[in-house]
Amino acid sequence: MQGNTHISHSMKTISLNNGHSMPAFGLGTWKSEPDVVHAAVKEAIQLGYRHIDCASIYGNEAEVGRALAEVIQEGVVRREELWITSKLWNDCHAPGDVQPALEQTLKDLQLESIDLYLIHWPVHLKKGTLFPESGESFLPYEEIPLADTWKAMEQLVSSGLAKSIGVSNFSIAKLDHLIQLAEIAPAMNQVECHPYFPQNALLEFCQQQGVALTAYSPLGSNDRPAFLKAENERSLLDNEVIGKVAEAHQASPAQVLIAWALQRGTAVIPKSANPQRIAQNLKATELVLGEEDMQALNALDTDTRYVTGDFWAMPGSGYTVDWLWNG
Ligand code: A2P
Repeated sequence: MQGNTHISHSMKTISLNNGHSMPAFGLGTWKSEPDVVHAAVKEAIQLGYRHIDCASIYGNEAEVGRALAEVIQEGVVRREELWITSKLWNDCHAPGDVQPALEQTLKDLQLESIDLYLIHWPVHLKKGTLFPESGESFLPYEEIPLADTWKAMEQLVSSGLAKSIGVSNFSIAKLDHLIQLAEIAPAMNQVECHPYFPQNALLEFCQQQGVALTAYSPLGSNDRPAFLKAENERSLLDNEVIGKVAEAHQASPAQVLIAWALQRGTAVIPKSANPQRIAQNLKATELVLGEEDMQALNALDTDTRYVTGDFWAMPGSGYTVDWLWNG
């Protein structure tokens, strides 16, 4: 299972509520440095990846775009065969800022339209703020009504710049609120999801509402910058139970985590910038876990996130972690 891979022809897809169909397995690009992401994206697409997850805040969309342009130009893949997701940053939630933000992303990615565009976080930052330095960098949540940002997102669909629209890091309450006010229902909620934090309630809600769920940080995102890490974090990849399941299938722990996510009906976007691991992760789309394996993995739930969101809750921001995830 860990060895050489080949193009997976049976790549699973997820049917979205707007009729579009998205490859369930994709390449994450958060934390892929600009100087390596170009090679990583090219390698992935050459091996058979068809879904690349991007965001303007990752600071590497121009390099991703160069890779996309090259593989298309080289005839490796046609644009229509690729599923490209990107995300609206928190400083561009004012309705007039939404389309220009996507236009910049499209320019960087060298694309005419995006397959899926997500509101990255339900948090507003002042225009021009990438990462907040103090509470001063934030705008109160009430200041830009979600209805207004969403209307601007809907216009992206009408104008053909985005095929599908959705959100990321939305709680059940916020997603419910959005569904009530939306003319075009959100197609996706992209959230952290893995056996330590399986998002059972949110996943059930999404399934009831016809919103697809993408699992981010599916391998535990061990390469997060130090300021986003807690002390004594538990490793997913070194977990004994996951290791045993992997051994039984002659697979790696990462492959087990990817297969678990796919078997629960979620999309999954493991990040790798390493050719062997990029290949290994794709090969996980062929791994089938048994009922007992799934149960053993489901029993690992400790209700712990790696990406806690506490960086939005700095003094004076007006945001709290509890509001973020439960409000
Ligand atoms: P690398 O990029 O060097 O392969 P996540 O997708 O949860 O954010 O996790 C990404 C982290 O997991 C990165 O540190 C990445 O390192 C590592 N990683 C990706 N694929 C594998 C794999 N198959 N086995 C072990 N680690 C992996």
